[in-house]
Amino acid sequence: MVAGLSRSSLFSPSFLFGVASSSLQVEGGASEGGRGNGIWNSFASIPGKITDGTTPDVTCDFFHKYEEDILEMKRLGINTYRFSISWPRLFPESSRELNLEGVAFYNNVIDCLVKAGVAPFVTLYHWDLPQYLQDDLEIKGWLRNDIIQHFLVFVDACFTLFGDRVKHWITINEIHMGTVVCCELEMFPPGNSVKGMSDSYVVAHNLLLAHAAAVKLYRTKYQVNQQGSIGMVADVQWYEPLSDIQEDRDAVLRCIEFNMGWILDPVFFGDYPTMMREILGEKLPKFTKEQSEDLKGSMDFLGLNYYFALWVTKAAKIKPLGMHTWLPESQTNLFWVNADGKLLGEAEGPYESAMFRSCPWGLRKVLASLSSRYGNIPIYITENGIKDSVIVRTLDERLNDQWRVKFLQDHIQALSESIREDKVNVKGYFHWSFTDTWEWFSGYAPHFGLYYIDFEDPQLHRTPKASARWFASFLKS
Ligand code: NOJ
Repeated sequence: MVAGLSRSSLFSPSFLFGVASSSLQVEGGASEGGRGNGIWNSFASIPGKITDGTTPDVTCDFFHKYEEDILEMKRLGINTYRFSISWPRLFPESSRELNLEGVAFYNNVIDCLVKAGVAPFVTLYHWDLPQYLQDDLEIKGWLRNDIIQHFLVFVDACFTLFGDRVKHWITINEIHMGTVVCCELEMFPPGNSVKGMSDSYVVAHNLLLAHAAAVKLYRTKYQVNQQGSIGMVADVQWYEPLSDIQEDRDAVLRCIEFNMGWILDPVFFGDYPTMMREILGEKLPKFTKEQSEDLKGSMDFLGLNYYFALWVTKAAKIKPLGMHTWLPESQTNLFWVNADGKLLGEAEGPYESAMFRSCPWGLRKVLASLSSRYGNIPIYITENGIKDSVIVRTLDERLNDQWRVKFLQDHIQALSESIREDKVNVKGYFHWSFTDTWEWFSGYAPHFGLYYIDFEDPQLHRTPKASARWFASFLKS
């Protein structure tokens, strides 16, 4: 145990500590229990779309192993589990037919969690979209706002069926990252049928409207009786200017507006940031007065997914090393490494891949900037984690993941400083992820778990890593 890092002395007894996952990444059972096809299942079956050529059709097989997993969660000592409900499992063919086998599965999972004393923290949309909603030319997935009425059928069913036991609802996961990686980088489905940057703004706009509509439904029809709360999850990175000059400082401000402001200003203030309106003009959709009113204040809590920090400079100023751009209109370039080869975050440990470096002070800064911009809203860290480097090859190296132990210690420390010193209203922390999982366009190669899974093993046995043991001892402390 790191000196001074004890759960009971740093966090209140009501603070939630959990692990996070999503249906597509852990469930498997892709065509079992009446589940319909989802956009990720189709996308993954197209050669070349997923780095290692795998599909999420079996992945961790949580579909069959949920009891075993929940028992292990109880042993780990967490008091909450974030997971998502698969839309194609509940409505496999159309929004008119509810799949009762899917309902039974989630009832079993939720009952099992409640019995284990692990509170279900449920995401309604974690990118697992039924294929028929993408294929229907009247809807075209998130490109048309007609999808919202279908989303409402799905979420209404979830609130009715599970709201007696689920007290925390997340409408949508990571609108910023999901939209940019789908529309700009085309690495998420539907890939090349959504082209061009203005699509990013339309897709995000429809997701925001869907969020507001789901919240309105929950608040008017369910909240008084069910006594739960509802929010949204945003990914927010920390941005550092590559140099001290004004141009780089201005680039940081643009990054903040195009990441945090783009998604969160509408839900707090009812509209996009002024800077985005000035830069984008007609490309940025407009909210009607009523939509804006519905959006404003449409969160009981904010979910934050924080992973890393990035260097920022004005676009195309120098040839970037490992450049990454979120949105070209922000006229910024993002870097993992600066011109002197300096990495943001710790290089310690076998992290060869530049992404997902450990930068705990970035978490503290993101939390401080969220609370100064949006006030004292309760915040849950709904995801935070690190993957194994590609140079970790042996099983021993994977299991003895001292870098993940240090990552956890440093981030929990930073979090406790945010709460105690910066007075940020953080209510919980979820580590990504419980077990190794299937990771979107990369497949099985990135290992994020506290528990190791050999995906070649037919039994998909779970083995605790050093990080799981450290987390368990911290949770008891
Ligand atoms: C955020 C996403 O919500 C999650 O699904 C993903 O696996 C992690 N980032 C790690 O990339």
